[in-house]
Amino acid sequence: MTLRWSLSLFVMCICFKVSPTEASSWTVKVPSSVKGHLGLCVVIPCSYDFPSPENEASEFTGIWYNNNDQVICHSNASQILDPFLNRTKLLGDLSMKNCSLMIENLQQSDGWPFYFRIEIKGYNQYSYINDKVSISLSQPDLSVQEEVKEGENVSASCSVFHSCPTYPPSFIWSHSGEQHDQTQQLHEGQWNSTSTLTFRPNRSDHNKTLKCKITYHHGLLHETSKILQVKYGPDIKTSSKCSSEDTVVKCECTVESEPPSMVHFVLGDRVMQSSKAEKNGSVTTETLQTDFGSFSFVHCLAINVVGYDNILLSLPVKDNMQNILISSGAGVILLIILIGSGVGVVKKWKKNREHIPCPDIYPNDPVYGNIP
Ligand SMILES: *[C@@H]1O[C@H](CO)[C@@H](O)[C@H](O)[C@H]1NC(C)=O
Ligand SMILES: *[C@@H]1O[C@H](CO)[C@@H](O)[C@H](O)[C@H]1NC(C)=O
Ligand SMILES: *[C@@H]1O[C@H](CO)[C@@H](O)[C@H](O)[C@H]1NC(C)=O
Ligand SMILES: *[C@@H]1O[C@H](CO)[C@@H](O)[C@H](O)[C@H]1NC(C)=O
Ligand SMILES: *[C@@H]1O[C@H](CO)[C@@H](O)[C@H](O)[C@H]1NC(C)=O
Ligand SMILES: *[C@@H]1O[C@H](CO)[C@@H](O)[C@H](O)[C@H]1NC(C)=O
Ligand SMILES: *[C@@H]1O[C@H](CO)[C@@H](O)[C@H](O)[C@H]1NC(C)=O
Ligand SMILES: *[C@@H]1O[C@H](CO)[C@@H](O)[C@H](O)[C@H]1NC(C)=O
Repeated sequence: MTLRWSLSLFVMCICFKVSPTEASSWTVKVPSSVKGHLGLCVVIPCSYDFPSPENEASEFTGIWYNNNDQVICHSNASQILDPFLNRTKLLGDLSMKNCSLMIENLQQSDGWPFYFRIEIKGYNQYSYINDKVSISLSQPDLSVQEEVKEGENVSASCSVFHSCPTYPPSFIWSHSGEQHDQTQQLHEGQWNSTSTLTFRPNRSDHNKTLKCKITYHHGLLHETSKILQVKYGPDIKTSSKCSSEDTVVKCECTVESEPPSMVHFVLGDRVMQSSKAEKNGSVTTETLQTDFGSFSFVHCLAINVVGYDNILLSLPVKDNMQNILISSGAGVILLIILIGSGVGVVKKWKKNREHIPCPDIYPNDPVYGNIP
């Protein structure tokens, strides 16, 4: 009894396995949308199916329609409407149930979405009107870090989606660097072409556009761009100086940096507020106008997130004393240490601007105050 049950179950299983699991029907496999560019070629991957006929089907006619039911592609080319003539092509082999379509020189007026129809001689015909394929116009995309540092390697990438691997795009960058292009297949006949540029920006690139030009076999051009933000440490201009007009003495300190620097004047051991700041792009000029007493030097100190710089400016005063210089130097060093440890980002130490006497040379010297 149990044996017979198992046996019949076994037979049933075999039957279910052997018999065709699902009958083929009027179905089509297409993406609901493909990426394309006006003026360029688009490929719609397509495969279709139909219920198995009793006699083998041998003659197939494949037709693609647009949303206005105009014939955009026909396996008998003489049936193709004029605006689509020579622009569309059935890539697929209809007898292999492949209905892939290529459209060249895509136009807005092509009237997507498109759908497929199959006519099988001596059997039947079917329009797959419920599976229309739309075209989404894709824009190239450029990505680069929002802020980059001068002298550091940066990579930017420019990518574009397309569906026509026959004619991959080529990329041209506005900045020199190491360029690497690749094309990668995504799902459903969609492709992603990317160009990566590795370059080392400098200050002259700040606020400049980085452009990626994309050309296709037609010479058609797309351009995309981003503005570069290049950070760099302060550079105190040699035009910085102290001057006197009548009885008024003022000191100007001109600093170029990105982002703008905090600028300090140090007189003796006092940090002075500048009385005026003028900004022009990345260049800031700060002016100190005060009673300089009998000091012969004033320090200008500039700091931003990338680094710092300092310079010693001579005051137009006759009697200069070495000890004041030492004392002002000590004040600057103290300030550098304070700011440096506070900000924690001081990286740059410009040796060529090193006017500060090293305090180790005068270990036993008293620190002089602001003796008039
Ligand atoms: C293509 O269509 C034209 C016009 O209807 C017809 O005369 C011709 O025989 C067709 N050719 C084929 C190969 O079906
Ligand atoms: C289409 O192509 C055929 C041959 O490939 C050519 O003779 C014909 O002039 C072309 N028609 C158009 C409108 O370009
Ligand atoms: C259909 O034909 C196209 C063009 O020849 C080919 O790229 C694609 O792989 C084919 N699709 C299938 C499912 O065989
Ligand atoms: C920067 O790129 C250059 C060549 O492009 C390479 O030689 C160098 O090692 C890179 N530097 C760093 C820090 O990655
Ligand atoms: C396109 O390719 C690039 C490089 O391989 C990749 O970074 C990017 O994420 C890709 N985009 C998509 C949507 O796959
Ligand atoms: C910045 O780099 C470019 C090359 O990429 C070079 O021609 C230019 O002289 C550099 N400018 C400075 C200020 O270093
Ligand atoms: C700002 O600087 C640029 C060049 O660096 C100069 O041509 C321009 O005259 C300056 N503008 C002002 C207001 O000083
Ligand atoms: C960057 O460019 C914009 C517009 O061209 C200008 O207004 C701005 O001052 C520039 N900034 C710097 C730091 O050069």
